[in-house]
Amino acid sequence: MKFIKQGCTEINIKKRYPATYFRRRFYVKTTIVRASLKMTALGIYEPYINGTMITDMLLLPGFTNYDRRLQYQEFNVTKFIRTGENIIGVIVGDGWYRGNIGAFNSTYSFGKELKLAASLCITYTDGTTEIVDADECWEWSSEGPLRENDLKTLERYEAVRDCEWCKPDGQSAWSWTACAVSRYTGRLVPSTAEPVMEHEAFKPEVIRTPDGSTVLDFKQNLAGHVWFRVTGKAGHFVALTMGETLDTEGNFTLQNLQGKQKPGSALYVGQRLEYILKDGSQEYKSKFLISGYRYVKLENWPETVHPDNFRSIAIYSTLTVTGRFRCSNEKINRLVENVQWSQRSNFVDIPTDCPQRERAGWAGDINVYLETANYFTNTKKFIEKWMVDFVQAQKKDGSLPYIIPEVPALGNSHSSAGWSDAITTVGLMQYLFYDDKKIIADTYEAAKAYVEFNRKRAGKRHIFHILKRGKHYSYILDTGFHYGEWLEPGSSNIRGSLKAMIFPDSEVATAWFYYSAKNVAQMAALLNKPEDAKTYAQLAEKIKSAYQMEFVPKGKISSKRQCKYVRPIYMELLNKEEAINNAEQLNRMCIQNNYRIGTGFLTTYQILNVLTDYGYVDTAYYMLENEQCPGWLYEVNCKATTIWEGWDAITKNPDKIASLSQNHYSPGAAISWLFSRCAGIRPKTPGFQKVIIRPHVGGSLTWAEAEYHSIHGKIRSCWKLDNSRFILDVEISDNIDATIILPDQSVYEHAKTGKYSCCLK
Ligand code: BGC
Repeated sequence: MKFIKQGCTEINIKKRYPATYFRRRFYVKTTIVRASLKMTALGIYEPYINGTMITDMLLLPGFTNYDRRLQYQEFNVTKFIRTGENIIGVIVGDGWYRGNIGAFNSTYSFGKELKLAASLCITYTDGTTEIVDADECWEWSSEGPLRENDLKTLERYEAVRDCEWCKPDGQSAWSWTACAVSRYTGRLVPSTAEPVMEHEAFKPEVIRTPDGSTVLDFKQNLAGHVWFRVTGKAGHFVALTMGETLDTEGNFTLQNLQGKQKPGSALYVGQRLEYILKDGSQEYKSKFLISGYRYVKLENWPETVHPDNFRSIAIYSTLTVTGRFRCSNEKINRLVENVQWSQRSNFVDIPTDCPQRERAGWAGDINVYLETANYFTNTKKFIEKWMVDFVQAQKKDGSLPYIIPEVPALGNSHSSAGWSDAITTVGLMQYLFYDDKKIIADTYEAAKAYVEFNRKRAGKRHIFHILKRGKHYSYILDTGFHYGEWLEPGSSNIRGSLKAMIFPDSEVATAWFYYSAKNVAQMAALLNKPEDAKTYAQLAEKIKSAYQMEFVPKGKISSKRQCKYVRPIYMELLNKEEAINNAEQLNRMCIQNNYRIGTGFLTTYQILNVLTDYGYVDTAYYMLENEQCPGWLYEVNCKATTIWEGWDAITKNPDKIASLSQNHYSPGAAISWLFSRCAGIRPKTPGFQKVIIRPHVGGSLTWAEAEYHSIHGKIRSCWKLDNSRFILDVEISDNIDATIILPDQSVYEHAKTGKYSCCLK
């Protein structure tokens, strides 16, 4: 495909520019059979033909590392084309290509100039074809109404400039200039993942806050667009600011996301839509600005604010829903819904950490959350697309970034344990759910090179550990940058980062070094590479014994932190007996902590599984159902509609608004436990062709129900308690081989759809 751009414009990277409007006239001589348009842009594009938007896909062409590869889309546009004169029009905004991205608002990350590529192929009834390519016959204008077009900080639309700029008989007073032909040096690839589209729409409640502002409460935190209808006079200015919370006095605030930062600062989030009215009644929906929000503060509204005139529209990648869960505890049901909302908000073309502050493809977040995502939705294509950028981001020395696509400004900080290790976990998780080895084959060399990179890092010694003796220490990873356990209750982002920089937690890094080596061995075995399988299994064993010598002397863990027990037990870093003993100690600690969660980012998704698998099912339930802070249901009691980054994102402390996002799925990753342990649906073989259904009863629950649509068919597990009887109702597709294990340990092999029951002691 050929590319075009504005001619001769000098771009100053200290400035931001209005969106570029591109258009081209073309003539269709007679009736056509088909017209197909291939298109992409360096920037973000919205395509029109004869004034009509030709697709409901959003944020095109999607986010990839544009230096290396760029996706294109193909649209069947037959119905938009008429005989005679036609116009293709395209609005191109900055998007991820040169707009604000990442925590520190890097701009112009992939380039300075917006570019557009297009190729329209028209097939006439007589079989002849005609191609309309990107060429000098295209013209561009920057005088359109979209004056500011950032994805994150600010969109400004001057409706007074509206005109029919891409209709054959329309009039436009903007000045138009011929485009210059340009090129793109990366690889063009067809987009394969599910498109980002509009989904649920919410109507607000209008509230007047104590400081006198008018605020819309849409009752659901999400990532999306605001739509409004307004009547007023030309030139009237209105502003809408999107935020996810009210402060302790009940006023609108963005402080939890941006502190006191002002426009232009690196930590400014903004999420502001400014709109200049034209005369009369009009409607607008933010175009490229996408905000993480529940509340909208209105400024200067020219008429009575009526809920019917506003909608909050959720925007996310359109994945197929595969699972659902419900139980007798309504608070758990709300928690499940909250986690799903955080997934939707953060599955916007790439898996992100949060939809407001950073919106970045943090690898650690999807590493911990992927299993839960897979129960809820089919993530196969969505993750495959992201993994291509992950693999391609690897440096020659095997190191990997922890944000993908890489945000160039952060590009030097590489290979944090638990984050970059997603290179070795994601393929195996996808294989388990979708029974397709391709992702393992595609990521294998990168995973192996990453483990080798860690082997070299482990061979070096941290300056503070220079006196450490013993041969085993060459398998202890204590160098490099590692976030560590991250965000344990009571810790903070800033303190955590500083600590991570100076004292990388070698226990965390070594455990992940082991886990990744073990994963690579498993990947090698699956790909029929016995030599590699042996090499990495042996490496894993060496790391394991070094870990035990260093962190579990005499088989005993001495720590007050839950994560220090959960991690080695979950990763199988301990011998059987040691695991049993340390799990017992973990259970005691959880009880002493009044069943409050004490883990951070890297083990919260593991703790319920560990407790359950070592026989402490009640403790797992009490922890999940604990309503005190820190705890999952504390958030539900605070009327949360998504999952928070930290447990105390909202507290009763009137002096403080926690600097935490309220829409982070990572602590919601424990929800896979409801499918895999509570309802008990777990794959025995990849793709759930063989499945184990082993429900666990506990806590306040009197019934629970989960359903998962695997690639081989439906699996539903629904249990209830009838006095002292446990009754399980299962539905299993004919081609799935199920093993049912009831709470009294009775086993049914090759089980069929039906009811199974046992007596509870
Ligand atoms: C993000 C996280 C991320 C982390 C790295 C944060 O600022 O929001 O979710 O994984 O940094 O520790």
